[in-house]
Amino acid sequence: MAEEATDFGSHATSGQDVDLWHHGDAEVAPGLVDFAVNVRAGAPPPWLADRIAGALTDLAAYPDPQPARAAVASRHGRGEAEVLLTAGAAEAFTLLARVLRPRRAVVVHPQFTEPEAALRAAGHSVERVVLAPDFRLDPGAVPQDADLVVVGNPTNPTSVLHPATVLTELARPGRTLVVDEAFADCVEGEPESLAARSDLDGLVVVRSLTKTWGLAGLRVGYLLAEPALVARLAQAQPPWAVSTPALAAAEECSGEHALAETAAWARALARERRRFAAELDTIGMRVTPEAAGSFLLVQLPPGPERGRCRETGAKVRQALRERGIAVRRCDTFPGLGADWFRIAVRDRDTNAMLTRALSEVL
Ligand SMILES: Cc1ncc(COP(=O)(O)O)c(C=O)c1O
Repeated sequence: MAEEATDFGSHATSGQDVDLWHHGDAEVAPGLVDFAVNVRAGAPPPWLADRIAGALTDLAAYPDPQPARAAVASRHGRGEAEVLLTAGAAEAFTLLARVLRPRRAVVVHPQFTEPEAALRAAGHSVERVVLAPDFRLDPGAVPQDADLVVVGNPTNPTSVLHPATVLTELARPGRTLVVDEAFADCVEGEPESLAARSDLDGLVVVRSLTKTWGLAGLRVGYLLAEPALVARLAQAQPPWAVSTPALAAAEECSGEHALAETAAWARALARERRRFAAELDTIGMRVTPEAAGSFLLVQLPPGPERGRCRETGAKVRQALRERGIAVRRCDTFPGLGADWFRIAVRDRDTNAMLTRALSEVL
């Protein structure tokens, strides 16, 4: 059973008190409207689906990652030797955990739990730096001698976008700094992305293509790092780990057309996210400010039952399920408790339905 964290000062912990392997998809069931998973709802756009379907005629040959690698490198202004295509961002975390030998690994929480889970599965001990609401990053909270630091930007589940200037303060010789940018393209123009930075010591940027493009089932992502580390990670990767259709998707998603579509989507997302956050605020939910991702992190309003918030949170989630709605529980994220939920930003009508249901339940 997950322990509830109630101490919200920025602090370091090393416990394994939550289920790091819990993911939002476990909360979705047939018939429920899905606010729990952060993948863009529905199918990939037709031009992308067509390209992926076109790759099915090439399945007799082994995958050739070269064209996708070149497309990703060009999209981020990096050299091809700085790019490794992976079976989703998740594979990048596993490869890093298997290849690196950190003396002091630090994960900044609350964040996606897979990087810590992968590190632990590879036998490393992990320290946590747990940020307090509103989850802004103070580089001073990260131990000076940490030789591996993992941070998300924008962060899942807080939706907080850390400034690039703050993140770069964490980079230094002798340290691997992993920035998980799975949701970077939720922000138009990606102003805080470090993906193009080959000048920062030890920087690894991890990107996913599964969220924005509705491709979670295809498994496609990549990492950007200095060539020597990319070569070591590539050696640890199973042969042909990324399939031909996934490589075709990576190439297509790096092109001008895809980038223009992402920018337009990010603009519309920002509008609806602002509106939805304001609406949730009016019913008393505490919305983590300045959200930048495709989701909001919300906390139940304080009430007479606050002391029993674990039960209250579970009851609210259950009551929403009875109204046909799945939200993401957050007591599986270090630093959050059962009175926090992560809510995907859907279209206006769907979002309004959640606000109505939540206000009835509250
Ligand atoms: C922040 C973050 N990073 C990485 C991933 C993994 O993404 P992928 O589907 O590319 O493995 C997820 C998936 O939920 C995520 O939320």
